[in-house]
Amino acid sequence: MPAQAIPEKIIQGVDFLEKNTISQLSQRRLEEKVAIITGGARGIGEATVRLFVMHGAKVVIADIADAAGIALANSLAPSAAYVHCDVSSEKDIEMLINKTISLFGKLDILFNNAGVLGNQSKRKSIIEFDADEFDRVMQVNVRGAALGMKHAAKVMVQTKSGCIISTASVAGLMGGLGPHTYTASKHAIIGLTKNTACELGRHGIRVNCISPFGVATSMLINAWRSCEVDEECTDLEAEKMEEYVGGLANLKGVTLKAKDVAEAALYLASVESKYISGHNLVVDGGFTSSKNCVGL
Ligand SMILES: NC(=O)c1ccc[n+]([C@@H]2O[C@H](COP(=O)([O-])OP(=O)(O)OC[C@H]3O[C@@H](n4cnc5c(N)ncnc54)[C@H](O)[C@@H]3O)[C@@H](O)[C@H]2O)c1
Repeated sequence: MPAQAIPEKIIQGVDFLEKNTISQLSQRRLEEKVAIITGGARGIGEATVRLFVMHGAKVVIADIADAAGIALANSLAPSAAYVHCDVSSEKDIEMLINKTISLFGKLDILFNNAGVLGNQSKRKSIIEFDADEFDRVMQVNVRGAALGMKHAAKVMVQTKSGCIISTASVAGLMGGLGPHTYTASKHAIIGLTKNTACELGRHGIRVNCISPFGVATSMLINAWRSCEVDEECTDLEAEKMEEYVGGLANLKGVTLKAKDVAEAALYLASVESKYISGHNLVVDGGFTSSKNCVGL
């Protein structure tokens, strides 16, 4: 279990927090919650599936990587189930939401995490811009997130509660951190999050996103390999990627892991963030806030 019970005398001493909030802190933070995590078969999604289950949630893993998704769900059963879902297909998203409700009875949390970086073997200049590639990346990253929001909101509006989180990126905040299309798609997710939060607040639904810095997942490593085939990364490749990202990072002495992004999702999904909506939680060790021009 994640946390030890907090001694009663400490709870009594902290009068600025509601007692029930403190007692929840000492327990599993997503007890009785039902969550969908898209792109949940590996990487950041997988880390979040594992953390949410550890905190008591029932989780539906939605992905197109069937073998990995099924294996993960089986290892966490009966707290997790796998549903094949291409997030760019409205039919698949509708089916995903219906399946979740038939499996677990409700939907409290949607984590729109599925994403693609785009084909790295293509030239990166805007002059060589590939409109078909643009459509493909936008379909997964933006259309997928918007469809998830639409169909989750339909259900959540009825219960007047719910929480929608999407994975944006530091590439959604500044230029020069990824391909043009990917960067545009991640800027779009932040805009979509704010606008949707604006509308859904009146229904008690919170909408937020997370913007991580580089995490050594297969997505990043495939980009580094410049390969067209989407392959799982090895531990050695992950280590080298972490070293490379660490060199670019502002905050030294720690390494950003998928689990750290999962912890941000846990915070946004749990009662601790009950008044946070329309927010982009940047998990970048200060990278996007700093350009140390004067050698501080
Ligand atoms: N790794 C990083 O450095 C980093 C940084 C910032 C943001 N992100 C974002 O985090 C999210 C997760 O990325 P990751 O690094 O874990 O990558 P990953 O490639 O390891 O995982 C992505 C998952 O999404 C799934 N997926 C891809 N297309 C899909 C589709 N059409 N429908 C359903 N599932 C689909 C893949 O099968 C895979 O399981 C993405 O949105 C990515 O853009 C990653």
